[in-house]
Amino acid sequence: MFLIFSDTTSIAEYVSTMLINKIKSKPGIVLGAATGGTMEPIYACFVEQARQQQLDMSGLTSFNLDEYVGLNADHPKSYAAYMHQHLFRHVGFDESRHYLPNGQAQNLEEHCLEYSAKIRQVGGIDLQLLGVGGNGHIGFNEPGTAFDSRCHVVQLSERTRLDNSRFFAKNAIVPASAITMGMQDIMDAREILLIATGETKAAILAEYYQNDITEAIPFTLLKRHPRTTIILDEAAASLLPDSAKRSATAGRLIAD
Ligand code: F6R
Repeated sequence: MFLIFSDTTSIAEYVSTMLINKIKSKPGIVLGAATGGTMEPIYACFVEQARQQQLDMSGLTSFNLDEYVGLNADHPKSYAAYMHQHLFRHVGFDESRHYLPNGQAQNLEEHCLEYSAKIRQVGGIDLQLLGVGGNGHIGFNEPGTAFDSRCHVVQLSERTRLDNSRFFAKNAIVPASAITMGMQDIMDAREILLIATGETKAAILAEYYQNDITEAIPFTLLKRHPRTTIILDEAAASLLPDSAKRSATAGRLIAD
């Protein structure tokens, strides 16, 4: 299902309210967390609402999708630092319940196996938040990744490294590889919310709409997931056919 909102502020309010309601109804919820520019306004809104409502998050467990290989948790561009900056340090998270792949693990392959196993051990992910790359990646599952993949080490595509260079200082080198949850780890989540904002995502959203499920556009696999919602702003939805926009707008009215 597509839901289209006029801007990122309304998306942030919608997703944040949904998260808070889910945490209230299931305090032990297991959340799959994403990083990236798309999630920043959502986490900011969540922090504000959670503070206002004095939300108890002590029972919440989370698993991040990915981490760069070679960056330690204190590196300012690591996803561990991102989570700390945007979420963990602001609200009452028990950081021992929040998992990220360790980009400096001694044995990366073994660490990946343990990461997928840990997700299963806590009973699986209730709600997985996702952004999407301009090439259709989710997590860091680049085009061509096997749909049955579990957590693994991936060589980042030039496109992804270029897209993410905006987060790094000028002339700094974006790491060439990362650890990511696999496609199957993502598909195992009981519910998925993918958010895409801005015109740079419009072309890949149109591709999603026009294509059948294909490994060349990883997030098309979500069409096979029974509880996936794709949330867009008008810019990201701008290349969708009018018929798709009309039904998504109807969905928005219901969702509101
Ligand atoms: C981040 C992640 C990536 C991003 C995607 C979009 O943890 O898994 O798949 O969601 O690259 O990034 P932004 O939001 O920066 O456009």
